[in-house]
Amino acid sequence: MPNVLIIGGGGREHALAWKLAQSPRVKKIYVAPGNGGVREIAENIPIISTDIKALVEFAREKKIGLAVVGPDDALALGIVDEFKNAGIPVFGPTKAAAEIEASKAFAKSFMKTHAIPTAGFEVFKEYEKAKEYLERSEKFPLVVKASGLALGKGVVIAKTKEEADAALRSIMLDKIFGESGNEVVIEEFLQGKEISIHAVSDGATFQMFPAAQDHKRVFDGDKGPNTGGMGTIAPLPWMTTNDMNTIAESIVEPTLRGLRDAGRPFGGILYPGLMMTNDGPKVLEFNARFGDPETQTYMVLLKTDLVEIIESCVAGKLKEQKIEWHSGYAACVVLASGGYPGKYEKGKKITGLEEAKKIKGVELFHAGTVYENGEYYTAGGRVLGVTARAETLRGALNLAYEAAAKIRFNGMHYRKDIGAKAL
Ligand code: AMP
Ligand code: GLY
Repeated sequence: MPNVLIIGGGGREHALAWKLAQSPRVKKIYVAPGNGGVREIAENIPIISTDIKALVEFAREKKIGLAVVGPDDALALGIVDEFKNAGIPVFGPTKAAAEIEASKAFAKSFMKTHAIPTAGFEVFKEYEKAKEYLERSEKFPLVVKASGLALGKGVVIAKTKEEADAALRSIMLDKIFGESGNEVVIEEFLQGKEISIHAVSDGATFQMFPAAQDHKRVFDGDKGPNTGGMGTIAPLPWMTTNDMNTIAESIVEPTLRGLRDAGRPFGGILYPGLMMTNDGPKVLEFNARFGDPETQTYMVLLKTDLVEIIESCVAGKLKEQKIEWHSGYAACVVLASGGYPGKYEKGKKITGLEEAKKIKGVELFHAGTVYENGEYYTAGGRVLGVTARAETLRGALNLAYEAAAKIRFNGMHYRKDIGAKAL
């Protein structure tokens, strides 16, 4: 039985720890750095996810038999390669495989080579060239993206030439995302329903999770700036088996095959963000990890022991692994700090957690929280993921909202319309 180390400290990692803690196959769970809620079920370790050297050292010392990586930046830095080099079993893609997320320029040209449906695009390294391209463009909106990681904030949907130019300037000249803006992708604006797909892969085969939907804008009705994600539902009632097969055949399979053929076999979770357009599903972006908050809904839906699934992957035996899901639906409503996704204050006392937790079918996953002297305080933008499962989607949403209404902290806000469009 392994000691497990989960890397990261958000709602995603709390949900992973919660699920792994139910397994009779784990000895002890550590989460680095973890959060206030994680400490109820696992041990928080004060090492940040990008301090790979310290994490490898810790894993050696504690005889970690399985490491699970949450955040994109650690993957992009090659944490999986370092753990593998140290002989520690680890779940997640190598640096080379994770480039599908870490470089949008790489992902786009990869999709072009492999005929994977995505928005039409051009890649630019020089501002002048990008600006010339804009001058010739007639169709707006256009989407301007920093190629590298930018905490989900490196995407601008520009309605006019002026807006597009302003985005290019801030990304390429002012370098508001640093090195991530060394290259930009300018792409066609896609219309349709946005969904999240997760496929677990051992590099050779893959299995799909149910489809999920995130709500990225901060306010109801998809208004306001983009966030890390304000809430999710899964599965999506309107998605058909046919839709899922199309996505598996036209997107997931060729992506994993292409990466394998390029000598970058992908182990871990491949999470394409898709737009379901009138011309079929098209890739908006690839992520090389579990989504957050998607994972919070997935963990309450997943029936099979997650340790089993992950160990099958690490051993290259995913083909023989059965993955079972509970019936019904899950919903997650994110409670955020006042001001998020802009500037926000921390250290607000959180009340009502005990009452909210008592509601049957509800799980509270902590994201930005700390625990001090018997109380919980806010410590991040996304504070809690109030997650519920029920036989119907409406039932799951009702439970999540009933629980959310019991929780209070100064400045707290959340979307009241999670899942509304799918009902
Ligand atoms: P990304 O980080 O590439 O997923 O972009 C962030 C968000 O911007 C996505 O979740 C979409 O809502 C939106 N977006 C990105 N690319 C496009 C596109 N080509 N057309 C329309 N919306 C887009
Ligand atoms: N759900 C958004 C993300 O994980 O990137």
